[in-house]
Amino acid sequence: MHSLTIIQPDDWHLHLRDQNQMASVVNDTAQQFARAIIMPNLTPPIVSCSQAEDYRKRIMAAVNTPSFNPLMTLYLTDNTSPDEVKAASESAVIYAAKLYPAGATTNSDAGVTHIDNITSVLAAMQHYDLPLLVHGEATGDEFDVFDREKVFIDNTLVKIRKSFPELRIVFEHITTKDAVDFVISENESIAATITPHHLLINRNALFKGGINPHHYCLPIAKREIHRLALIQAATSASTRFFAGTDSAPHAQSAKQSACGCAGIYSAHAAIELYAEAFEQAGDFSHFESFMSLNGPAFYLLPANSRQVTLQKQSWIVPEKLTYGDETLVPFMAGKELKWKLKI
Ligand code: NCD
Ligand code: ZN
Repeated sequence: MHSLTIIQPDDWHLHLRDQNQMASVVNDTAQQFARAIIMPNLTPPIVSCSQAEDYRKRIMAAVNTPSFNPLMTLYLTDNTSPDEVKAASESAVIYAAKLYPAGATTNSDAGVTHIDNITSVLAAMQHYDLPLLVHGEATGDEFDVFDREKVFIDNTLVKIRKSFPELRIVFEHITTKDAVDFVISENESIAATITPHHLLINRNALFKGGINPHHYCLPIAKREIHRLALIQAATSASTRFFAGTDSAPHAQSAKQSACGCAGIYSAHAAIELYAEAFEQAGDFSHFESFMSLNGPAFYLLPANSRQVTLQKQSWIVPEKLTYGDETLVPFMAGKELKWKLKI
């Protein structure tokens, strides 16, 4: 196979940051994807509809592809009101609200401290059919960092499902076989995004030849059996797994520091990285569904009308990219990829 043409994909989980850093990265996404779900974990976070609308305007001002459509999200806090949920559900630009357990990841300090604090908000989301996006990791020093996803399923997600069985939930950037099995065992109101890096690396990559901060993200990469379960899910006929890169840029200096930030940047080669994973699995039969059909179907949106073509053409990922006034090191920097998107 030398070329692959599919309906244009969307990125169902993306961090764009703000200001000149956003301007450096947004066009990497806009030249590959038609739409992207934009994460609200700025400082300060996007907690209101008006903040989301303003942020969307700043994104559009920096984009070179006017047809690119950023789908905005709200950041849930202990103080989010059901009225804000209602307004979000009526907004033309907001498509979901995001649950960050407080302290779980980058810029999550303002997140939800206990799920019971947002019961009325979840009820409103179910009522107005606004999807809940979850960063599914338990917090607390008592939990091993590699177990946090499973603990979150057992302690929190099961409870949310029981209380709100019709709430549409996207279990974001899943990293474990436990998460795959959970999604499959549930009904069609729960789906999951899978990142390219969790399809391509396991936790060994963090330590190969020395500690590698550019492979550090949250949820952290797990054992090989978990990566294989993710590959199996992504390449399967199930319609409840879809692409969400979790591309999360941080300056090189912030990654390569005594306390390096969590986040992997993949927007420079997002579709190509997914193609690499499907190529390794030796099965492209559900590639278009995973990249371009399952996500829109879950979000109740039409699939895109344009198509994009990937060509079998090896190329080397740049060592560094510009990031505002600094640089960032992209995923697979200096490495060879086998597929290239025709732009
Ligand atoms: C993300 C970020 O940097 O904003 N980091 C990450 O490791 N994925 C936050 C997140 O999605 O957890
Ligand atoms: Zn993320």
